[in-house]
Amino acid sequence: MIVSLPKAISLIKSGHVVAMPTETVYGLAAEAFNANAVRKTFDVKERPADNPLIVHISSLNQLAFLATTIPDDFYTLAQAFWPGPLTFVLHKKNEVPDIVTGGLETVAVRMPDHPIPLALIKATGPLTAPSANKSGKPSPTKASHVEKDYNGEIPVLDGGASEIGLESTVLDLTVQPYTILRQGKISADELADVLPKHQISVRAETDQLKKSPGTKYTHYKPDAKVHWLNPEDSHTDTNGYYILHSDRNCSFKKIFQYSGDFHALASDLYDHFRTADYLNTQNIYIESLPSDEIHRMIAPLRDRINRALGS
Ligand code: TXA
Ligand code: MG
Repeated sequence: MIVSLPKAISLIKSGHVVAMPTETVYGLAAEAFNANAVRKTFDVKERPADNPLIVHISSLNQLAFLATTIPDDFYTLAQAFWPGPLTFVLHKKNEVPDIVTGGLETVAVRMPDHPIPLALIKATGPLTAPSANKSGKPSPTKASHVEKDYNGEIPVLDGGASEIGLESTVLDLTVQPYTILRQGKISADELADVLPKHQISVRAETDQLKKSPGTKYTHYKPDAKVHWLNPEDSHTDTNGYYILHSDRNCSFKKIFQYSGDFHALASDLYDHFRTADYLNTQNIYIESLPSDEIHRMIAPLRDRINRALGS
């Protein structure tokens, strides 16, 4: 059910879970310092308890309650990229409930670049918010996606379609070199531009399993089977859902041609996954992507699509 901002504020303050828009994807918000409210988030999402949540803040002052031994580089990066699609992993304060961090000694923090969550958090204080999908499914990028996932049972703040469409970059500042645990719109190159003396590493998939607990679980998967479509592959599945880079002539019924607009592909990818399921499509074919240097969204897109492959 869609709710107003005042209603969402009072629901959150009384320990409920409310879905909120952000510029990346919709999140399932709860009071970060209310362990019972946070527990409800894990329950409704059916999320494994060892997969920690990101705490969302609306001002840097709120960080004092969450993180400790914060490096100066954090402030340099926050100045450049906040509010925005960049999450920092920092050493946590003891007061942060263990359920938020899945028992880790670190906490992930982000200031979203969207007026609705900023107004909400200003009124409620820091909010945990995992992506608002059921565990393992594609993240919601529209209020209607959340309504569908939870049969209208979760209150939703409607902020329209998420502009970016892929989850934030997660950067671990508790290790040297600073390490990207999850790729997103903010790339390693952009981070390195702001911190010229530092090397920023991108965690290899196998190491990620250990470091960022969330990455070991199935993610972003629609019910349909997702395949890469290579130029040499024949593509004759008349019932398939095709997501094509190019504008070539095609007679497929279900097709999205994004003409090399990778921002558009990122913002619409999960919506296409969901539409394919809604149409009962068995297979989704995605034309292989050009190299990462061509566009900043290609690396995070490749990552999400690779995780969604297969059935
Ligand atoms: O864009 C986003 O980040 C969205 C919006 C709603 O802000 N949120 C989001 O949350 O994607 P979630 O829970 O779906 O993904 C958070 C990721 C998970 O992979 C989790 O394991 C990782 O961040 N994470 C959270 N806390 C961490 C920590 N202390 N150390 C390492 N990884 C952490
Ligand atoms: Mg998620």
